[in-house]
Amino acid sequence: MSSDFPARFRAAVGSGATLIAAPGTRESRLDFARSVAAGLSDEPKWLHCRFLYDAEGSRLFERITQQPEYYPTRTEAAILARHAAEVREITGPRTLVELGSGYSVKTEHLLNTYVDQDNPLLYVPVDVSDSSLREASKSIAERFSDVRFTGVNGTYRSAFPILRQLSPQMVIFLGSSIGNFNPAETTAFCRNLAGHLPTGDNFLLGIDLVKDIAVLEAAYNDAAGVTAAFTKNYFARMNRELGSDIDIDRIEHVATWNPELCRIEIFAHFHTDQEIYIEPLDERIAIAAGERILVEISRKYRVSEVADELARFGFDTRRVYTDQKEWFALLLLERSDDSVLRRSPFAAMTR
Ligand code: AVJ
Repeated sequence: MSSDFPARFRAAVGSGATLIAAPGTRESRLDFARSVAAGLSDEPKWLHCRFLYDAEGSRLFERITQQPEYYPTRTEAAILARHAAEVREITGPRTLVELGSGYSVKTEHLLNTYVDQDNPLLYVPVDVSDSSLREASKSIAERFSDVRFTGVNGTYRSAFPILRQLSPQMVIFLGSSIGNFNPAETTAFCRNLAGHLPTGDNFLLGIDLVKDIAVLEAAYNDAAGVTAAFTKNYFARMNRELGSDIDIDRIEHVATWNPELCRIEIFAHFHTDQEIYIEPLDERIAIAAGERILVEISRKYRVSEVADELARFGFDTRRVYTDQKEWFALLLLERSDDSVLRRSPFAAMTR
């Protein structure tokens, strides 16, 4: 059953369902346990950042986006508001697919320009948090009567197999969420997306740009402590779902700029020895006082490096939009014709 997700998805769209679970989302407690065990058995220890976004984490992230120090959301929203009409003009009508949509707040700028009276707009948000998809579907139903909303509850990867049937489409990936990926994960993501996206389809990508370190570090150390609560919620979630019995008050949120890797790194710093229990696997992992667990990375970019990387995978950059301070950029890309790459003598190297 789960193997034919594209067919189940097609049926869901046909019947007007607002939410469909991608295969795998159901066993998430065991996935979570395995992911935690893998990262904590490694040296240095790390955790997979996608598990930051349970219902509580999604709420906290939404509050982060409203903090005065956290400039990315506001800056990107202003760029979107300003250029959404031109983006729509360039691409023409298309289905909108959004990876990591959260509450879909910024997307409304695009929905505004993509709804058109002749063909109802299909909007397919993809998110690991089913609570935020439910919220999004409610608020969009209130504001946009012409949008058909079919949310996919699952990881980015789970959505790739349905893309072919959604062409012509624009895949939207906002907020510099791509910055969570390390270089190997970025390559895998770009290759995967390119492999599933038909020629002529669009990709709209938000990236956070390299800037003054003080501005960057402040964005991840807001005075109200919401980002710290977001980091700690990872461990609270482990207590809730994995019976981990962690003393959250003895963990500190630490976010610092790593200049070599050009990224913000977010750690949970343990002040005392603790033992983390993983009930579904009946495993115990010792954390020593002073140890730091890497919870999340947030890479910062130069526009040219991202455009070059995407070009390797068959994406042409059509437009680059940015704000006055050049703090954030929005790239409008188009999946190019593969036959050009195949004919090139460098095809083997570039693909
Ligand atoms: C959702 C990954 C883009 O990296 O800025 C914000 C996540 N974590 N504050 C980011 C985040 C802590 C955010 N992304």
